[in-house]
Amino acid sequence: MVFPIHRSRRLRQSEGVLRMVRETILSTDDLIDPYFVCEGKGVREKISAMPGVSRFSLDALVSEVKESYSLGIPAIILFGIPDKKDARGSEAYNPKGIVQRAIHDIKSAVPEMVVITDVCIDEYTDHGHCGLVEEGRVLNDPTLELLSKMALTHSEAGADIVAPSDMMDGRVQAIRKTLDESGHQDRIIMSYAAKYASAFYGPFREAADSSPKFGDRRSYQMDPGNASESLREVFQDIEEGADIVIVKPALPYLDIIHRVRQEVNIPVAAYNVSGEYSMVKAAAERDWVDGERVMMEVLLSIKRAGAQMILTYFARDAARTLNR
Ligand code: PBG
Repeated sequence: MVFPIHRSRRLRQSEGVLRMVRETILSTDDLIDPYFVCEGKGVREKISAMPGVSRFSLDALVSEVKESYSLGIPAIILFGIPDKKDARGSEAYNPKGIVQRAIHDIKSAVPEMVVITDVCIDEYTDHGHCGLVEEGRVLNDPTLELLSKMALTHSEAGADIVAPSDMMDGRVQAIRKTLDESGHQDRIIMSYAAKYASAFYGPFREAADSSPKFGDRRSYQMDPGNASESLREVFQDIEEGADIVIVKPALPYLDIIHRVRQEVNIPVAAYNVSGEYSMVKAAAERDWVDGERVMMEVLLSIKRAGAQMILTYFARDAARTLNR
């Protein structure tokens, strides 16, 4: 009989002991802070479905990013909201586009901040899809050229990491080749390797004005019922040259994060997406849960599952809690 020799509660008897035996510890180093950048001056436009998150114009963005850096957050990821959209998403790969200018301004003001860019044309196309569209279908191979151009303009503006989130097949290889041929061998590719067709992206699509105007994204993003397929996606992206892989969303896919972590030997990131954020905020606003504790528990669970980096709208709130 094990009890009473083994008493699990012995290791829970004081804060000091708890600290000594804790297996997973969240740090500000784990956090990646997402930003939405738009045209204009002095713009700080709140996103109603994401309390605490705003769209910023360039001038406002730079001071926000400085704050993130001073809180100890090592990296940000940028999403652009252009003024003009068209069928080919041409603003996405305009060297003077909104994200390209944002990268430049951030790198000038806070050079130590690691700047990641989302590489996907859905915020820039008038139809809202992540690829070129012909007769109602999203085309794979013709989209690769646009994604490569987009990644290259980000890299030329000074981005440290490009993060393709489109889920077109072969895009990591296409981007790696374009970057290498242009002397950008050192740019990191963080691919959204296992990205599911999820309803949890709802609030983001309000923020980025990127809902598809027809159909949905199920012909390119993954089916939520599939798990082993995520490994095929991840292995393929690694073979094509991905340096870091992302699993997205995070909370409803902790099993996928765990499996990917077991199978690969490169860094694994997870995206704690807009809907996951908004659910916690909404419940906290009603006093149904303790928002701060739930936030920290959610982030810890994602790290415990195996992610060593977390893209999260909680980044600054969590950093403030961690710094206390
Ligand atoms: C595509 C992209 C999306 C998100 C990140 N990159 C939207 C989508 O696939 O519809 C969603 C992020 C979130 O919900 O927080 N550019």
